[in-house]
Amino acid sequence: MATRRDVLKLAAVGGVVAVLPLEQAVSAIASAAPAPSKPFTLPMPVPTVLRPTERTRHADVYDVKMVGTTTEMIAGLTTSVYSYNGTYPCPTIRAAKGRPVIVRQTNALGVDTAVHLHGGAVAAGHDGHPMDIIKPGAKREYHYPNIQQAAGLWLHDHAHLLESENVYRGLHASYIISDDTERGLKLPSDKYEVELQIRDARIEQDGSLTYTRAQDRPHILVNGRERPYFKVAARKYRFRVYNVSVDRFLSLRLADGSEFVQIGTDGGFLPAPVTRNELRMSSAERVDVIVDFSRYKPGTSVVLQNTSALPTENADVMRFDIGGPARDDSRVPSVLVPATPLPTATVERRFVLQWEPVQARYTINGLVYDPNRIDAHIKRGTTEIWTIVNADTSAPPPNFHLNHNFHPHLAQFHVLDRNGVVVRPEEAGRKDVVMVAPGDTVRMSVTWSDFTGRFVIHCHQLPHSNYGQMATIEITP
Ligand code: C2O
Ligand code: CU
Repeated sequence: MATRRDVLKLAAVGGVVAVLPLEQAVSAIASAAPAPSKPFTLPMPVPTVLRPTERTRHADVYDVKMVGTTTEMIAGLTTSVYSYNGTYPCPTIRAAKGRPVIVRQTNALGVDTAVHLHGGAVAAGHDGHPMDIIKPGAKREYHYPNIQQAAGLWLHDHAHLLESENVYRGLHASYIISDDTERGLKLPSDKYEVELQIRDARIEQDGSLTYTRAQDRPHILVNGRERPYFKVAARKYRFRVYNVSVDRFLSLRLADGSEFVQIGTDGGFLPAPVTRNELRMSSAERVDVIVDFSRYKPGTSVVLQNTSALPTENADVMRFDIGGPARDDSRVPSVLVPATPLPTATVERRFVLQWEPVQARYTINGLVYDPNRIDAHIKRGTTEIWTIVNADTSAPPPNFHLNHNFHPHLAQFHVLDRNGVVVRPEEAGRKDVVMVAPGDTVRMSVTWSDFTGRFVIHCHQLPHSNYGQMATIEITP
């Protein structure tokens, strides 16, 4: 396995300018075309809910094995993937606020892993830090206190230099925290509350999955199936939409342009529902929406599309097939979770994200990640204003290397403004990833209250964090 330094050296030795480390994988792609897409052939599975091994007085305990398995992403083809517990999509862990969860992970894969609870307020030793590796054959126990409000979080790999490929190969799973407030809202639930884990992939004609640059990944998977169909009743559904692509921005809309209602962001409910007809999501962002299919005639269909697909790509993502009406006692209250005023900030910081073509590296404030360097010292309890700048200028697609986003571990934040303009309500809720398009400057308010220790902050275009766009913060008492 090449280390980052080796890869950078390779780039320099080759004298190659403007070649992404990931783009060096291009030569590895078989010259043959990838497997043809077969839209709407396979039904969309819903991830199963993992059962705890035991429920003690203090916690729900899960045993999870990271293993290789096979799955049918495209009808008739067998694809090898990595998995938490042997299925793809991986099973979901459901937690309740105030009730801790312990996950005992065993690495039965041949690669290093580290498990991160994305969006979780978790102690540093349980955060899946990139250097806290689980070696092949080893085990590690992670403690999740679930002290935060109801939210759709996720588990994904974070092993240093491997996180992007490990996630791409399947190491990602939903982790959903519920609370009493959520139960009181009477939103669609049970089989009417469904995760949509959307990502791209490149599947060869022999079924193998190739890890390569985004513009060479023509397949779109929802819950692990390529452009599936999903049978719905003519009633309201709650969809927890996850962009689990390693580095692809998605713009999701129903083909007929009809509206739906957004109720939540990465870190929990919005203060009030917001009507939308398109969701623009960068990698790792989550959006919680209610779609009412009672407006459609039974027997009809509506396709979900990605309007950010490249001109060479099929924009279809999945198809909803509308069945008969079903009883629906759910509602969308006009007030979800009342907003609380943001604390006064006392510290300001600035993080500049950049792709540096000459060195073929991604940086934050001109530096690549060094696990031994602390980039920001933060006093616990402080509220800070962070300004995140994408110093790259826009270029015509494919421009996946110029689109950045930003994710601090540990804390949820509130986005204040983008390029000086106050963000719209759908982006003003609790967030843990914010999109920072070329040329953009985004400001956020973040309070560091929960834990002390060292955590990483990074661009969540994972090939970018993989090649340097990551830094360390240390929170002290
Ligand atoms: Cu999804 Cu470092 O995180
Ligand atoms: Cu980036």
